[in-house]
Amino acid sequence: MKNFVFHNPTKLVFGAGTVEQIGQYIKKDGIKKILLLYGTGSIKKNGVYEKVVRSLYENGIEKVEVSGVRPNPVLSKVHEAIDVARKENVEAILAVGGGSVVDSAKAIAAGFYYEGDIWDAFIGKYNVKKALPLYVVLTMSATGTEMNGNAVVTNEQTKEKFYFSSKHVFPVVSIVDPTVQYSLPKEQVVYGAIDAISHVMEYYFDVSGSNLIDRVDEAILVTLMETTEAILKNPTDYEARANFCLATTLALNGLTGLGTDGGDWSSHELEHAVSALNPDVAHGAGLAVVFPAWLEYVSDLVGEKLIKFGKNVLKLRGNVTTQRTIKALRAWYKSIGAPTSLKELGFAKSDIEELTNIAAKHAPFGTVKELKVDDIRKIYEIAY
Ligand code: NZQ
Ligand code: ZN
Repeated sequence: MKNFVFHNPTKLVFGAGTVEQIGQYIKKDGIKKILLLYGTGSIKKNGVYEKVVRSLYENGIEKVEVSGVRPNPVLSKVHEAIDVARKENVEAILAVGGGSVVDSAKAIAAGFYYEGDIWDAFIGKYNVKKALPLYVVLTMSATGTEMNGNAVVTNEQTKEKFYFSSKHVFPVVSIVDPTVQYSLPKEQVVYGAIDAISHVMEYYFDVSGSNLIDRVDEAILVTLMETTEAILKNPTDYEARANFCLATTLALNGLTGLGTDGGDWSSHELEHAVSALNPDVAHGAGLAVVFPAWLEYVSDLVGEKLIKFGKNVLKLRGNVTTQRTIKALRAWYKSIGAPTSLKELGFAKSDIEELTNIAAKHAPFGTVKELKVDDIRKIYEIAY
């Protein structure tokens, strides 16, 4: 186990009926005016918008709204919201939505105080020094963004999907009410599951770490798989939803990274190029395709872990091999309706070159194997 420091400042408010409490938490911090940020309309259909607005009103909090944050969120919307936040002199941001809305809110919160273009934070030219306080009502469990300091945004002009991490953008309070996720379309549940599974795998297959955290990882992975199947059968199964939601938060709030080298994260780099080139591809869908391809490419280096994963997570019995484990993972993804090849995502073979060029902007990356341009191309070829 490597040495580590663990500090997570986010207050997680979890459970049925908690959305209504958001106004109280904001009021307690002495905040009187917020920017309410949301996506493309789901919160107006499932009643979350109404609950949030009522709670703000009852607690005497004024709001200005920016909506229309799209999945795989874009930089131009972040710029638009920073302008509104400054003009209206808001004291905090309230993000109501999934990862796309929360990540955009983090960029807005940091951009509020930065004189240059906040894209600088994503390309390593600016180290975030200050941000507006961020409050979250999460409507989709997947990314873990409700309890971490990461933000992922696409610069639509350069087709770069990059991230920054900062201690200043951890949400102050995040409300996770599993019942508001009853309205999620099935495919979003599937993509959310695969995203969270991939977060754990990024750490699990980075062979540093410890037996304790490996077992924590395995418990989260098994829970995610079981609850995904249960939710797909019965979307209003509260216990399944609650276990699923908590598992996705724990997958990327620092817990699964304790005592590791920090995770491999190559599959995430490879995926971000996929959803940058085609923004209609959900992050989880891209991961379903590239993660097994990466495992195949590095299977010699993570052989023991793959076999342990096959036995403890996928519950394979008999002669468990690396290839059998990867095949079983792909088969499970297929069984829940996820795509398993770039072709299925609508890419042509000729797109591999552009995907490689986009991903290579961050190369070399990865701790299990440091991937260079040729490795990246080969993994996309396996994924095709
Ligand atoms: O636009 P709205 O109306 O919000 O609809 C969304 C969107 O269409 C819908 N949705 C959300 N909650 C709903 C709902 N529909 C019905 N009922 C509800 N309760 O679901 C769709 C997808 O939402 P989105 O926010 O895009 O999904 P997700 O939470 O998976 O976020 C994905 C983004 O997060 C990034 C991804 O790359 C991607 O851009 N990531 C962020 C990370 C982080 N901050 O730590 C780590 C991840 O690895 C990931 O890269
Ligand atoms: Zn992810």
